[in-house]
Amino acid sequence: MCGIVGYTGFRQAYPVVLKGLKRLEYRGYDSSGVAMVQPDGLALLKKKGKVAELEEFAIGKNLASQICIGHTRWATHGEPSDRNAHPHLSQSGEIAMIHNGIIENYAPIKAELIKKGYTFNSDTDTEVLLNFIDDIKKENACTLEEAVRIALKRIVGAYCILLVHKDDPETIIAARKGSPLVIGIGKGEHFLASDASPIIEYTKEVVYVNDYEIAIIKPDELILKNLGNEKQTPFVQKLDMELAAIEKGGYPHFMLKEIFEQPQTIFDCLRGRLLPQENNIILSGIDKYAAEITAANRIIIIACGTSWHAGLVAEYIIEELCRIPVEVEYASEFRYRNPIVQKGDVIIAISQSGETADTLVAIENAKEKGAIILGVVNVVGSSIARLSHAGAYTHAGHEIGVASTKAFTGQLAVLMMMAFKLGYAKGTISQERFTQLSQELSTVPEKVAKVLEQDDAVKAIALKYADARDFLYLGRGYNFPIALEGALKLKEISYIHAEGYPAAEMKHGPIALVDEHLPVVFVATKDSFHEKVVSNMQEIKARKGKIISIITEGDEVSPTLSDDVIVLPAIDEIIAPLINVIPLQLLSYHIGIAKGLDVDKPRNLAKSVTVE
Ligand code: G6P
Repeated sequence: MCGIVGYTGFRQAYPVVLKGLKRLEYRGYDSSGVAMVQPDGLALLKKKGKVAELEEFAIGKNLASQICIGHTRWATHGEPSDRNAHPHLSQSGEIAMIHNGIIENYAPIKAELIKKGYTFNSDTDTEVLLNFIDDIKKENACTLEEAVRIALKRIVGAYCILLVHKDDPETIIAARKGSPLVIGIGKGEHFLASDASPIIEYTKEVVYVNDYEIAIIKPDELILKNLGNEKQTPFVQKLDMELAAIEKGGYPHFMLKEIFEQPQTIFDCLRGRLLPQENNIILSGIDKYAAEITAANRIIIIACGTSWHAGLVAEYIIEELCRIPVEVEYASEFRYRNPIVQKGDVIIAISQSGETADTLVAIENAKEKGAIILGVVNVVGSSIARLSHAGAYTHAGHEIGVASTKAFTGQLAVLMMMAFKLGYAKGTISQERFTQLSQELSTVPEKVAKVLEQDDAVKAIALKYADARDFLYLGRGYNFPIALEGALKLKEISYIHAEGYPAAEMKHGPIALVDEHLPVVFVATKDSFHEKVVSNMQEIKARKGKIISIITEGDEVSPTLSDDVIVLPAIDEIIAPLINVIPLQLLSYHIGIAKGLDVDKPRNLAKSVTVE
C-alpha cells in the first residue's frame, strides 16, 4: 500500500507526479505529498487527506522543477497527519525520501540515531531510514547511492523508496524489496511508479525493478545495481495496457464501471482457453505442471480478502470435481503458524494485485519447502506472478475500485477452468460432464450481462435498506463463499456491519440478531441444497427478519417467503457463484452511494496491501 510516483526529465515534473498520484490513490489516501529539487534547495508540499487536498494546497506555490517525487499514503507508523505525510526531509535538510512498506527494525536504528543527537519530526519508520542513510553518507563521506546501499543491508522489512538530493536536480535514487516499482523509459525522461497506470500515457516501455535492486535514474540514463554494487541489465518490457482502461469511461465511479465490465472481462479471461467445441481447456502456464498437479496429495490455496473467498469457492469445486483434498488458508495465518508443507504439495496463490505481502511471503516459504506454486493473479508481471512456478492470469484489466469486483469473477473463471481441466485429466469427471460444464461456463458473459440489466431493481432494494444497522448474508454449498463475499463488499463500501454465514449454521448464533429490522440476504439459487435453504428462509421469516433473496428464474417458492427478490438466469450450480455475486456487488455499490460515501476509496482500506 501507499502509492509512489517519480519523474525526472524535460517536463515540468509536478503535474506529471500529481496526475500519477491520482491514479495511484487506490493504494492509500490518508495523506499525500511531493518533493521537488529547486535552485534554492528542496521544496516539500504535503497534506493530510486525499490528493485533491494537496492539489489545492499547492495552488500559488512555486512548483517549477523538472524532478519530483510524490507519495499517497496508507498509514502504518503514525496517524494520518501533515506531519507524518511523505516525503520526509533528512535532518540535514539535504535529502527527501518517500517510502512504501514497513521497516521492521526501525526501533534499534532510531535509538542509535537519537544517541547521536538526531531528533524526529514524525512518527514514521521512513524518517528513521532516511536519517540513517543521511548519517551513513556523512560518516563515510560517500555518495547518496552508496549510503543507500549500505543502509539497506541493515534493513529488515519491506520497502520501495525514492530519494532526491538538494544538490542534484537530475537524479532519483530508488530501491525496492517487497514493494513494487516500475520505471517507464521515455526519450530524455524517466517515470517511476508503484504500478504502470501513471506511466502508460507517456511510454509503454517499462522495467520492473526486482527485490534488492537499486536504480540510479537521470533523464537520459537508467542504471540498475544489486546491493553488492554489481550492474544489472534492465529487462525492458512492453506494456499491454491502454489509457482508456484506467479512466472512468462515462461511469460515475470506477466500482460501477468495473462491475459493468464483467461480461467483457470474463469473456477475455475465457477467450482462447475455454474451447468447448474442441472439448478442451488450454491454460498453457499450468499445462506444464499437469502431471504434478493431478498427482498431488493435496492442494493448499493461499489468499487474503476477496481473493480468499474465490479460494473457498475453488475448494468446493476442486474437491467435488477432482477429488483432491483442498485447504484454504489466510496467507497471514499460514505464514506464521509453521504449517506442514511437503514436496509435491500444490499451492495455489490467488491475488488481484500480485503484491499482497502476506500472500507473497507465504508462498516464498512454501516454495522453499518444495511445493509447486501456481499463481492466479491479475496484475501481469507482479511479484506473486513472478515468484510462482506457473499460473494463469485473470485478464480482468486494471482494477481501480478498492473493493474488488471484476478481479473476483476473473479469479473464479480461472479456478473453474482449472478444476474442470484437472477433473477431466484425472478421470474424476466424465467427458460428458466436462463438455457440459465447459459449455455452460462459456454462457457466463451473456448471463452476467442479463443480470446487469436488473441494476435499477437492485438499486430500488438498496434504497429500501440503506439505513439498516446490520445485514446478514446466508448461503450453502457453493453459495456460502458468495454470502461471505456479499457481506464483505457491503462492509467495505457502506460501513454497515454485515456477516456472511452458512445458512444452516446461522441457527448457532446469528439467529439471535434476527428481528423485524434485520435484512437477511439469501443467496438461494437452484442447487442441490435449495430445499434446505428454503427451510432456513422459513426460520428467518418466522422471526420477522426482512428477506432479500437471490433466486433462479422459475423458483416459485422463495418469492412467497421473501420481501424482495432478484431473479437470475439458470446455470449449473458449480458455475452459479460467478453470476450470483453480481447483484451483491450492485447492492453494496448502491447502498454506499445512497449513504453518500466514496465507494471507490472506502475509509481505512487500500487496494494493495504490501505490509503485513
Ligand atoms: C485488500 C483489498 C481487497 C483484496 C485484498 C487481497 O484488502 O482491499 O479487495 O481482496 O487486499 O488483495 P489481493 O491483491 O492479494 O487480491
